[in-house]
Amino acid sequence: MEVIIKNDATTLSAYAARLIRELIRRKPDATLGLATGGTPLLLYRELIRLHREEGLDFSFVSTFNLDEYLGLAPDHPASYHQYMRENFFNHVNVPPANIHIPSGQIQGDEIPEYCRRYEEEIQRAGGIDLQILGIGSDGHIGFNEPSSALTSRTRIKTLSPRTRQDNAPFFAGPGEVPHHVITMGVGTIMEAHHIVLLAFGEKKARAVAETVEGPISALCPSTILQMHPNATLLIDEPAAGKLQRSEYYRWVFDHKPGWQRVL
Ligand code: F6R
Repeated sequence: MEVIIKNDATTLSAYAARLIRELIRRKPDATLGLATGGTPLLLYRELIRLHREEGLDFSFVSTFNLDEYLGLAPDHPASYHQYMRENFFNHVNVPPANIHIPSGQIQGDEIPEYCRRYEEEIQRAGGIDLQILGIGSDGHIGFNEPSSALTSRTRIKTLSPRTRQDNAPFFAGPGEVPHHVITMGVGTIMEAHHIVLLAFGEKKARAVAETVEGPISALCPSTILQMHPNATLLIDEPAAGKLQRSEYYRWVFDHKPGWQRVL
């Protein structure tokens, strides 16, 4: 696990965007795993800039989103379909046929088969080359809440009261946040070739400390990233506030050999 601590979210988001740019230059038909929420907004803004100003070409890229609220139509203002259109897809040239976001409108016993097919489509696309993650204040990745099986696959999950409260600002009121979601599983996420997790703000400090330095536990699903061979954590100062070895992580980054540097 590589832990990179920088002052601000803008610098870290630009770094993540450069990782994606380098991947697409190397592999124009790369498959990206995408996240929503407040955290990746600056990353999407930077990717849009790279597309407009440097001609970063997404025309062969495929994307798979982590999750969607169940019960929301794709044009619901708080749906992740709407979020992705507004914040990314309307501004770059990913072909619509290459965009995959779990449906929020699957119901009842259709759900397991739908989730199985989502997994199959990821496999058909050759697996995820680079997965962007945010992190919940309870350590969830995707919407794999505490106690999620660390080998889980795409499936329905129930949101914890804390996540519903965290996400209430995106809805008309706290009672409006759906209880259920479809999310890629922890096992699905762990199969990505490269995982890039962004964490900004003091509210994430406890989850970040557990992820990097805590014992691996389903009670904090992000801790499984310690087992991933190629995970990069991009953390701002407030989110790094509870790390015990932050000086060491900074030292390691400052002494990276030149050939390993993306910046
Ligand atoms: C979103 C997702 C979630 C968020 C997490 C953090 O697709 O899968 O895991 O990344 O809830 O949300 P923000 O970024 O809003 O703090």
